[in-house]
Amino acid sequence: MTCRIDHLAAIAYLPQSPVSYSPNIGLIGCGGIAGYHLQAYQAAGFKVTALADLDKTRATARRDDYFPDALATDDFQKILGDDSIEVVDITTHPAERVALIRAALMAGKHVLSQKPFVLDLDVGFELVELAAKQGRYLAVNQNGRWAPHFSYARLVAGSGMIGNIFGVHMSCHWDHRWVRGTPFEQIRHLILYDYAIHWFDMVRCFLPERKAQRVFASTARAAGQDLKPNLLAQSVIEFEDAQATLAFDACVPAGPQERTYLSGTNGSLTSSGSGNQEQRLTVNLTEGSWTPTLTGKWFPDGFHGTMGELLCAIEQKRPCSIDAADNLESLALCFAAVASAESGLPVRPGAVRKMPTNPPGN
Ligand SMILES: NC(=O)c1ccc[n+]([C@@H]2O[C@H](COP(=O)([O-])OP(=O)(O)OC[C@H]3O[C@@H](n4cnc5c(N)ncnc54)[C@H](O)[C@@H]3O)[C@@H](O)[C@H]2O)c1
Repeated sequence: MTCRIDHLAAIAYLPQSPVSYSPNIGLIGCGGIAGYHLQAYQAAGFKVTALADLDKTRATARRDDYFPDALATDDFQKILGDDSIEVVDITTHPAERVALIRAALMAGKHVLSQKPFVLDLDVGFELVELAAKQGRYLAVNQNGRWAPHFSYARLVAGSGMIGNIFGVHMSCHWDHRWVRGTPFEQIRHLILYDYAIHWFDMVRCFLPERKAQRVFASTARAAGQDLKPNLLAQSVIEFEDAQATLAFDACVPAGPQERTYLSGTNGSLTSSGSGNQEQRLTVNLTEGSWTPTLTGKWFPDGFHGTMGELLCAIEQKRPCSIDAADNLESLALCFAAVASAESGLPVRPGAVRKMPTNPPGN
């Protein structure tokens, strides 16, 4: 047990930074989430030199808060035309993001795209091919992978310490009604698509070599709900020798809870808390248990994790673990779940290529 505990204590789950690669970064889209990107980059010592938003006051406000020497503009072409900028972080919503990613790759930039990456898997493949043709990295901001508990759990799963994983069970019970009146309220599958993509991606991280066979899902309106998108969602993912379940209750007014349970042939891992910012994780082996003291929080440290991984991959000239091609596999699970929720039937991942874009209630 001692050497296993030594191994568990030494798991390097914190976000990484490159050793000496410190490129100029441009950020396009200065809305709600951009603040967390910038907070994380400032703390990590990453160098943002230009920020763009259609609404220049947003670009200016973010610039003033985090990188006062940077350019603030309402014209993203100023970022793409600046040869000193090598990496572009695109944080708009998916529909408008495709043209921006394409333009950034054509301008020779490495790109970090916010999630969910695309609304159409084939468009995603086109972007992956364009990045390859341009010899540039295209990565997707699945920052959940660097939430401290998910980062630690992912590395435990990958180490084989709890054996061959056959069960991944995650549930979230929280209040997502802050989206009222924002563009998010218009997303038909707000929970299964916009939110749960992090959880579909984590299922793949925990079962990396396994191919999902079928996905079932359903969504429903919660009792008393008046927000447009359905706030209850659940999904079951079948593998040949493993299973995953996800459950989301997104309008809980008090007592939020979030839980992850991994079952393996040599042990289990459990993580739970009042939300994804506060989690207590325990690894259970037949000889005993280990509860690490985790430091950091998903917001903002997860955003250091994703940009750090992209910069390290560029510096080390190695594949990036959050590359867009890999992300399309997570999206395929998510799209299958959405299609299953629409039809009531199980769906094979990859069979459904497009996310329905009709608004909730239509
Ligand atoms: N954990 C996470 O990673 C996380 C959390 C929240 C949101 N998100 C994702 O981030 C994306 C954006 O969310 P948000 O909350 O910041 O949205 P938001 O509506 O607050 O901001 C989007 C911004 O993009 C700007 N924009 C649109 N088109 C532009 C263009 N062509 N050039 C420059 N700026 C442009 C808009 O003016 C707006 O300021 C969504 O895809 C969302 O799912 C991710």
